[in-house]
Amino acid sequence: MTLRISVIGTGYLGVTHAACMASLGFTVIGIDINAEKIAQLSAGILPFYEPGLEELLNSELAEGRLSFSSDISSAADCDVHFICVGTPQVKDGLAADVSYVDTSIRTLAAVAKSGSLIVGKSTVPVGTAERLRNDILKINQEIDLAWNPEFLRESFAIEDTLHPNRIVVGVANDRAEAILKAVYAENLAEGTPWIRADLPTSELVKVAANSFLATKISFINAMAEVCEAAGGDVTVLAEAIGYDPRIGHKFLGAGIGFGGGCLPKDLRGFMARSKELGADRALDFLREIDAINLRARVRVIELVRRDLSDDLVGKRIAILGASFKPESDDVRDSPALDIAAQIQAAGAIVSIYDPKAIESARRSFPALSYAGSIKECLTDADLVLHLTEWKEFQSIDPREYISIVRNPIMIDGRNKLDRDLWQKAGWTFRALGRSAKN
Ligand code: UGA
Repeated sequence: MTLRISVIGTGYLGVTHAACMASLGFTVIGIDINAEKIAQLSAGILPFYEPGLEELLNSELAEGRLSFSSDISSAADCDVHFICVGTPQVKDGLAADVSYVDTSIRTLAAVAKSGSLIVGKSTVPVGTAERLRNDILKINQEIDLAWNPEFLRESFAIEDTLHPNRIVVGVANDRAEAILKAVYAENLAEGTPWIRADLPTSELVKVAANSFLATKISFINAMAEVCEAAGGDVTVLAEAIGYDPRIGHKFLGAGIGFGGGCLPKDLRGFMARSKELGADRALDFLREIDAINLRARVRVIELVRRDLSDDLVGKRIAILGASFKPESDDVRDSPALDIAAQIQAAGAIVSIYDPKAIESARRSFPALSYAGSIKECLTDADLVLHLTEWKEFQSIDPREYISIVRNPIMIDGRNKLDRDLWQKAGWTFRALGRSAKN
């Protein structure tokens, strides 16, 4: 029997999961309370940018395996329900807001058929799954809840969903695990590591993984601060330590640090939850990880000030990049836009160019100015900042633009540009964690 699957919440995670499950041959319905979003998705329009996803959405709609609805009772006859709603940071603290998860699971439990399995994918504070499982059992004893954390990266979402490097399932019994094994049969056949855990461990795996990744980035950014003080070069340091396989080269890219809808909020939510549990000492270090990360944004602004005699008023600053990472139009907690806003608040005239994120940036930061091309962005600039490492920026020929800027000063906030190339072309080149050598 082919499983019928529902996906509750059609944001970034939900649409990707729904389209990928459909591509495996399952019949999938995506549910969201936002009727406008449902209308767009039903018409094959993806409300955000993710490489390959709009194509997959359209092919699965055309095959008839994928549909969308704003009515949760349309999910009533599904066998498995994936919960993919958001858990943003609360407005007045560090904790994660789980109200969308609570509401969607309770509403679903009231309409779901007996024997079905609800599977949480949203990132939640440890203890949420057990609490909700007890709530569901009070509504219908024949419905079960499992947790199956998600590790997909934006801009690699399809690949990470179809071929994850591990599958973690938090289950309370063998039946729930057997249903999830049927969903992920192809991955099991491929040999993907399968980890069965209890509910709290499965919730913790997710926040522990994101905290570790954040720690790696802040570690190298702390080294960048020391390199700056000592006249060293953090890019050489990162390359050298990364050859030790216990350390590895990945996530040692020094620069303006991490942003996005996950790493910052997850490590804050983890700290808040550990405090509630009385284990806050254990995660004290994450406070420093967060602080190092935010300091990287301040350090790049200090470099700008140094090059412009500490006076930003009326200076034209060109900013390359708006999204929190390349190949994405996501600007949630984007370091690039945070820096742009701070520079503008200090009196500078900013001009921002991004290959994909101008529209989303304009929605979040309407008071900033945006350019339609690299050339327009750089025209008459007193200084250029490279803040999101799109490939397009790495292939810029610095000779081509030297005559259109007012001052040829480039500050590379991502350590991805070729310093020699820029210097040979006549630019003053600076980067975080690297001595000036000018
Ligand atoms: C992150 C995790 O990598 C995923 O495994 C996880 O599933 C996801 O959060 C989530 O919780 O949903 P994502 O937010 O897409 O994925 O972004 P990352 O690729 O982790 O990058 C996060 C930030 O770190 C970006 O701003 C990036 O520019 C920055 N970064 C990354 C660095 O500053 N240096 C690096 O070396 C690597």
